[in-house]
Amino acid sequence: MATDVHRPVTTTPSAVRVEGLTRAFDGRAVIDDLQLDVRPGEFVALLGRSGCGKSTLLRILAGLDRDIEGTVLVPRRKAVAFQAPRLMPWKKVWRNVLLGLPGKPERAVAERALKEVGLDQRSDAWPKTLSGGEAQRASLARALVREPDLLLLDEPFGALDALTRIKAQRLVGELWQRRGCAVLLVTHDVEEAVLLADRVLVMDGGVIAHEREIDLDRPRDITDPRFAELRADLLERLGVDTAAEAA
Ligand SMILES: Nc1ncnc2c1ncn2[C@@H]1O[C@H](COP(=O)(O)OP(=O)(O)OP(=O)(O)O)[C@@H](O)[C@H]1O
Ligand SMILES: [Mg+2]
Repeated sequence: MATDVHRPVTTTPSAVRVEGLTRAFDGRAVIDDLQLDVRPGEFVALLGRSGCGKSTLLRILAGLDRDIEGTVLVPRRKAVAFQAPRLMPWKKVWRNVLLGLPGKPERAVAERALKEVGLDQRSDAWPKTLSGGEAQRASLARALVREPDLLLLDEPFGALDALTRIKAQRLVGELWQRRGCAVLLVTHDVEEAVLLADRVLVMDGGVIAHEREIDLDRPRDITDPRFAELRADLLERLGVDTAAEAA
């Protein structure tokens, strides 16, 4: 697998390898000697309280922030989708999907990705006419045309209503299984993390403070008692008092 590197390495058995990563703002280390490995094709969810550095880590992995210390190895082909879909209002949906791609990609490339996210009917629409869920799917299509080996998602469902969110979660699960790319999903939703991920990480104090393999068969059943146990364990790691929550 080809890699972007901060050291001259050409291959890595991991989709992501991070060693001794530190990122400081104004002398304060938000990420502090962090280690992280993600296997090719692995689905990893990243939890952590607000402000703990999740988006900072994601932006570094996406190559959007290079003001760092440490080693960061990621696939050359990577794509990122944020909570806000960030579509250009003056470009139709299909042109947004192709935005930033090298060369002169044909419209058919965008159409294929839009079909994959169930949005091929809105290819000619203007972004402002899309619903929140549709805009988020357009943003996913824009990530997919990059044929990423690593898909970075920063709370992509955070702004969606409950039903649209469930549909979007299902879509991401299907895309991941079909594409076989590694995924790093930042979320505040513990249930979403347990539903989708092979492994859940909890970030705290600038490092990955806790990790938990999710060894439940797919598709996952949220009524499975083991699902509830994993959810409770992770909530506890996040400092949420589950006994009080149940009361
Ligand atoms: N460009 C920047 N300049 C200064 N401080 C920053 C910058 N970017 C992030 N920070 C600070 O770094 C810390 C981590 O921010 P980050 O956005 O990574 O948190 P987060 O875990 O994604 O939070 P949330 O869950 O609320 O999205 C915060 O204290 C934030 O204020
Ligand atoms: Mg964030």
